[in-house]
Amino acid sequence: MKVLLLGSGGREHAMAWKLAQSPLCQKLYIAPGNPGTALEGENISLEILDFDGIGRFCLEREIDMVIVGPEAPLVEGIVDYFAQKPELTSIPVIGPSREAARLEGSKSFAKLFMKRHSIPTAAYKEYQIGQLDQAMSDLDRHALPLVLKADGLAAGKGVLICHQRDEAKAELRAMLEGKFGEASSTVVVEEFLQGREMSVFALSDGLNWVLLPNAKDYKRIGEGDSGPNTGGMGAICPVPFASEGLMERIKEQIVGPTVEGLQKDGLRYQGFIYFGLMIVDQEPWVIEYNCRLGDPETQAVLPMLRSDLLGLLQRVPGQQLNDVVMEYEQGFAATVILSSAGYPAEYQTGYLISGIEQARGALVFHAGTKTDENGQLRTSGGRVLAVTGKNNKLFSALEQAFTALEHIDFEGLSFRRDIGHDLM
Ligand code: AMP
Ligand code: GLY
Repeated sequence: MKVLLLGSGGREHAMAWKLAQSPLCQKLYIAPGNPGTALEGENISLEILDFDGIGRFCLEREIDMVIVGPEAPLVEGIVDYFAQKPELTSIPVIGPSREAARLEGSKSFAKLFMKRHSIPTAAYKEYQIGQLDQAMSDLDRHALPLVLKADGLAAGKGVLICHQRDEAKAELRAMLEGKFGEASSTVVVEEFLQGREMSVFALSDGLNWVLLPNAKDYKRIGEGDSGPNTGGMGAICPVPFASEGLMERIKEQIVGPTVEGLQKDGLRYQGFIYFGLMIVDQEPWVIEYNCRLGDPETQAVLPMLRSDLLGLLQRVPGQQLNDVVMEYEQGFAATVILSSAGYPAEYQTGYLISGIEQARGALVFHAGTKTDENGQLRTSGGRVLAVTGKNNKLFSALEQAFTALEHIDFEGLSFRRDIGHDLM
């Protein structure tokens, strides 16, 4: 197969790494990719939202499948674009339709979906600016802490956990008055769930589904889960506390009903579903849906998947995932993100990166890197590299990652040393 993968982060490097291992993969293109994906296939300078350009490229190069890494092209309707163009309809795009991608793009849509299909999620109410007085008086009686969520995509900043009533009221008002523009014209106010977070990843063909290995993400910048939220500073796969019993409940109460619900609602979804879960007393609750794989979870999850990823994806368009037996690797993968000083706030880029060749015994995925005019590798993002160790024991997987990353250097290099410590 000739495959086009869209995206340019660490997740996409891990996806390209896995896809390139498939005996089915005849040619892999990545648009726009990064210096890491260039080691696995051919980078193409196409923008991920340039659907006309992507379509033309697919016809020219006779692409057999398009795989989408980040949510933006899905939320913008790349699946519908291909489905509606007669010359492109035969090229499958892995991912949900624009309408189904609202599971990620709109918290309000996701909450209504879960309510309609009896999928466990925190109790909530939603408000718009016209309901400001009602919202303020409801907040007077709401249990604390409580969670405020901007309805739309707000660059990862749209969720706020409030411990003080005054803070909650001021924030809710600011959001409804346009703090995040259109994204917060509707705000979901949600009950706070106290528990342990984990992420579950399904691949659905619209009828059947399989699970990839599960993972835990470390979202806060600081050790001990302190400081602001980031895209993710590390990941462990699989989650040691995810017992067989818990996974059964997740499948029965959440994954199955979600895929059936999409079908009942007539929402076309042939792609990855990311379930952000809170486990409260061994019971799973959905915190959020994403319509793509996680970053950096993918950098830990795909090294733990023994099954051929492209082999699985090939079965999606024809809805043939029903008789697949998934194969996972034994043990654990531990991913540590090397970030730029200052991230997730302002940070500098363009620093020379050294030592990747010496970082043996671990996988090094590129996230925010670029090659300069002299062919030297430099930083170009907040999250720069993802280093993944793999071993039968979680402790040893972490040790491999930390030993390998000691060789890597760039100005301002930062990372969390406590990734996985809560799980040992
Ligand atoms: P989200 O952007 O929906 O992933 O939310 C960001 C983070 O907020 C999650 O990873 C959780 O840690 C936290 N969070 C969201 N909703 C809740 C909730 N209902 N109870 C507790 N924590 C939550
Ligand atoms: N690591 C969290 C996410 O990908 O949304």
